[in-house]
Amino acid sequence: CKKQQLKGKKVLVTAGPTIEPIDPFRYITNHSSGKMGYAIAEVAASLGANVTLISGPTNLKKPDSVEFVQTLTAVEMFDAIKEHVDSSDAIVMSAAVSDYAPKTYKTNKIKKKDDNITLELKKNPDILKSLDKINPRLVKVGFAAETNHTNQYAKEKLENKKLDLIVANDISNSNSGFKSDNNKITIINHQKTISYDIMSKVECAEIIMEHVIPLLSKTN
Ligand code: C5P
Repeated sequence: CKKQQLKGKKVLVTAGPTIEPIDPFRYITNHSSGKMGYAIAEVAASLGANVTLISGPTNLKKPDSVEFVQTLTAVEMFDAIKEHVDSSDAIVMSAAVSDYAPKTYKTNKIKKKDDNITLELKKNPDILKSLDKINPRLVKVGFAAETNHTNQYAKEKLENKKLDLIVANDISNSNSGFKSDNNKITIINHQKTISYDIMSKVECAEIIMEHVIPLLSKTN
């Protein structure tokens, strides 16, 4: 029956922002609310999957019936994923991972002095891109939040990060995307591109998981 289409499957879901500390008082983050990822975790669990939700800081209530791991930085999120990835069948990477982190963490609060100061950043590991080497049979779903050339950039990420599917959303639209309860998604896999009208993030999550189910049945 439909309810149990993911029975016996282990699905990892990441959600929310990462935060990268600058000093004990300040950090770099982004506008991700975590709503899309939490909806995916709930929908996957309702389809019978064994779900681990790895989440950056959000204001959301932890969904029932999922294993929950709280993380802060991109490196912490990566470490949590590494612990679970060998036993997982799929990962849906909806977290907005910071591309860069401060090169050094200042243990004392940076004092106000010069008119201009420079904060040096270093690239974070690309988590999704590195997963193919760690578990080649893992079904990998990425997100591409873009403000322009959304579908083109998403297709490039699908190839470059060796994904099975990517969900593109245009974050320049204020009625959808970050913080909103709605999203306007385009699903891109290696065969086709399907654009959907704006809808709730729960409905988006149902559609995304419908596309993940056939990919998972191939991994048996
Ligand atoms: O390259 P970009 O950040 O736009 O790619 C977005 C996708 O890659 C998302 O699924 C995001 O969770 C993932 N990502 C990642 N590690 C990073 C940056 C992004 O896994 N360092």
